[in-house]
Amino acid sequence: MVELTLPKNSRVQKGEHHAAPQGASRVRNVKVYRYDPDTELNPRWDTYEVDLDACGPMVLDVLIHIKNEIDPSLTFRRSCREGVCGSCAMNIGGRNTLACTKGVDEIPGKDLTISPLPHMPVVKDLVPDLTNFYKQYASIEPFMQASPPPEKERIQSEDDRRKLDGHYECILCACCSTSCPSYWWNGDTYLGPAALLQAHRWIEDSRDEERERRLDALEDPFKLYRCHTIMNCAQVCPKGLNPAQAIADIKRQLVERKA
Ligand code: SF4
Ligand code: SF4
Ligand code: FES
Repeated sequence: MVELTLPKNSRVQKGEHHAAPQGASRVRNVKVYRYDPDTELNPRWDTYEVDLDACGPMVLDVLIHIKNEIDPSLTFRRSCREGVCGSCAMNIGGRNTLACTKGVDEIPGKDLTISPLPHMPVVKDLVPDLTNFYKQYASIEPFMQASPPPEKERIQSEDDRRKLDGHYECILCACCSTSCPSYWWNGDTYLGPAALLQAHRWIEDSRDEERERRLDALEDPFKLYRCHTIMNCAQVCPKGLNPAQAIADIKRQLVERKA
């Protein structure tokens, strides 16, 4: 039998423990994945005993508190703090979500565990490398293609406009793609739910004139057909979107245009 073992430097080790300050009233153990590629050291889990009465109620508030008050070396992304930029996506309590909209009280158990989005290279600590994710997004040509440029606004019926609902709300946080088992194993060739949801958005846009070419580009055994309707994407999307449904609709359109 083949024995599979992880390379030595990929094993996550026990890290530092930061005890709660004296007099802390409401303490929660926050376990955070730490990795610094500039050192030769393995990744580790650091534990911070955080006084929840000393910080705001969201997981992002806890991370900001740790960085400001306990350990300035902790690295994570964030910007808007209100669920619209997508930059604070990470794995919290075993589920991909946004740190700024996830309440600490929503995570059950003694430990609050925080790690980067899974199955992506890590730049540092909680920051994943999204280069491939953005490259795939660019590959679906996420912009309107119609000519010649109009002299006034392009008119769209209310029904056609409604077809874009469930698409334009996407903030490209990557929670869905990085929770998709097919994307884990084929992320280099399968476009993943986020890019495919956006591909569907442009296929559905009545003002775009490249629908057929967009469909041609997706008719590929890897780019589209690696989706096996496992539905993790729809379950984790922090904006309540359903990429799996969009993917199924692209497949339907490809079948129908052959009939
Ligand atoms: S579909 Fe949802 S989970 Fe996926 S990138 Fe867009 S907002 Fe994030
Ligand atoms: S439904 Fe498709 S895209 Fe969504 S998680 Fe499953 S395999 Fe991935
Ligand atoms: S900080 Fe912008 S979505 Fe969380």
